[in-house]
Amino acid sequence: MTTTFDGKTAIPKEKWWSETESPKAWMSVRDADLYEALLHRIAESRAGEPLRVVEWGAGRSTLWYTSFLESLGVPYRWLALEHHGEYFRESIAPRLNQRPDAAAVEDDHPDTIRALLATKSTVAVGFCAGGLRPFLPGREADRNADLDAYVSLPRRLGLEWDLMVTDGRKRRRCVLEALELLSPTGFVLLHDAWRKHYQCAWSSWTSGRRFGDEWWIGSRATTDFTDVLPWHAFERHAEPL
Ligand SMILES: C[S@@+](CC[C@H](N)C(=O)[O-])C[C@H]1O[C@@H](n2cnc3c(N)ncnc32)[C@H](O)[C@@H]1O
Repeated sequence: MTTTFDGKTAIPKEKWWSETESPKAWMSVRDADLYEALLHRIAESRAGEPLRVVEWGAGRSTLWYTSFLESLGVPYRWLALEHHGEYFRESIAPRLNQRPDAAAVEDDHPDTIRALLATKSTVAVGFCAGGLRPFLPGREADRNADLDAYVSLPRRLGLEWDLMVTDGRKRRRCVLEALELLSPTGFVLLHDAWRKHYQCAWSSWTSGRRFGDEWWIGSRATTDFTDVLPWHAFERHAEPL
């Protein structure tokens, strides 16, 4: 470990991609770039049909990856769900509502959301829970918060999706929800996959594999995922301390 001129401890270069946070999403550079590569690949496979994505847990990923799909010039529909009302109102909604192709609402009526998805590429829905952090010591009670509306909105819409990303609260439940909502060739993604309590949801999927630092990908089809992710994605994953 070396120290830089400004007194900060430098990250060894072989760990830089896994220990530096990406500007694209709240995850490592490696994971954010693999996520982008996966989106690129499956957007191409849609052959001009819109790529349909659900993201449980909004943030800068919502802003970045929707702009990325825009820059690829591919059609898409991106539904982002955020449990934390204040964060949604202050950090997500104002930025999305500046875009003509996006809408951020705090109304989860299926008719409202289906109508928005018919005309907007990005639709973000905010729910009214607070800042739940059940993975922190002393915050275990946050696990009991009722987030049924947040988990079940995709199911209530009755639409089919190509990719469902679980990177917010209630990840184990969201992985299980995705089983019935994805197209037969669709993928589910789970971040922070090293957390043991999410892993019981994996056996419901025909295929599943860790990739990058903290990702897990699942499919209802039989696949080793090498057609959608590069070889180096499948080496060296983060494990629990
Ligand atoms: C692990 S973050 C992931 C959010 C998103 N997928 C991303 O990568 O940017 C999960 C949750 O943290 C909260 N969050 C995200 N960005 C935040 C920020 N900059 N400040 C406070 N909370 C944030 C949101 O409630 C979000 O659902």
